[in-house]
Amino acid sequence: MANNLLKGKKGIIFGALDEKSIAWKTALKCHEEGAQLVLTNAPVALRMGEINKLAEAVNAPVIGADVTNMDDLKNLFEKSMEHFGGKIDFVLHSIGMSLNVRKGKSYTEINYEWNSKTLDISAMSLHRVLRTAWDLDALNEWGSVVALTYIAAQRVFPDYNEMADAKALLESVTRSFGYNYGVKKKVRVNTISQSPTRTTAGSGVKGFDGFITFAEKMSPLGNASADDCANYTVTLFSDLTRMVTMQNLFHDGGFSFTGVTKEVIEQMEK
Ligand SMILES: NC(=O)c1ccc[n+]([C@@H]2O[C@H](COP(=O)([O-])OP(=O)(O)OC[C@H]3O[C@@H](n4cnc5c(N)ncnc54)[C@H](O)[C@@H]3O)[C@@H](O)[C@H]2O)c1
Repeated sequence: MANNLLKGKKGIIFGALDEKSIAWKTALKCHEEGAQLVLTNAPVALRMGEINKLAEAVNAPVIGADVTNMDDLKNLFEKSMEHFGGKIDFVLHSIGMSLNVRKGKSYTEINYEWNSKTLDISAMSLHRVLRTAWDLDALNEWGSVVALTYIAAQRVFPDYNEMADAKALLESVTRSFGYNYGVKKKVRVNTISQSPTRTTAGSGVKGFDGFITFAEKMSPLGNASADDCANYTVTLFSDLTRMVTMQNLFHDGGFSFTGVTKEVIEQMEK
């Protein structure tokens, strides 16, 4: 049910790879709520061609950008402002990639060159995006930027590997840039800490099936789906949450504050 929560707003959505992507679902919801969109992803992801289906569904142009490349980002923001005929109200950063996970290295034997690439793509990219918007003065006052994160930034989930460090850095950039952008332009920056979700990036984590089932049993409401996440993100882009900034917001069916559940205890007693 649409409520026109984003009527008149203009936003850039990073990271829709295929229809399982959290960014894909979010683009659909933002469109449903009346927003105008620009979609972007890395050139290698665009070559898959899937994003064109989404572009058609939400009537949005696709502008490629590797999020580690400042020229690509500048081009993306300039072209988006041209397309919208003005500044931007919201940005979704839905990007993650771990080279060490992909190449099967464990946390204690990571390759540091791959690690710095992981941190650049998955965390400092948020700084790069915000910096580009800042330099071009591309965001409207009370604009809203949301990045996606995971609770491994606070607690150990061994197979999440170097992505735990990347998410901790991402959350720190959110606070630090959020402070600066809040003071300068009343722009808000938050992270949503999402339940494990079956997507391309999510399924790349070793032992994902056990992991997602455990989280389901440890969450009083069950795991939050990608669609639920999209709905929550819409509220953060809307004017109903204007005073929320620099926060890490858990969106996980209660997982983060649950010590143990009866279901898990019963399982242990079997
Ligand atoms: N799936 C989960 O279990 C889960 C849980 C919590 C948080 N998250 C986070 O949600 C976000 C979205 O992931 P997803 O689960 O929808 O998976 P996904 O694989 O659909 O999305 C990841 C996206 O990152 C993009 N990307 C990678 N390198 C890039 C680069 N250099 N430049 C631009 N884009 C690049 C990919 O093309 C892809 O579209 C990530 O930050 C992820 O860590 C996922």
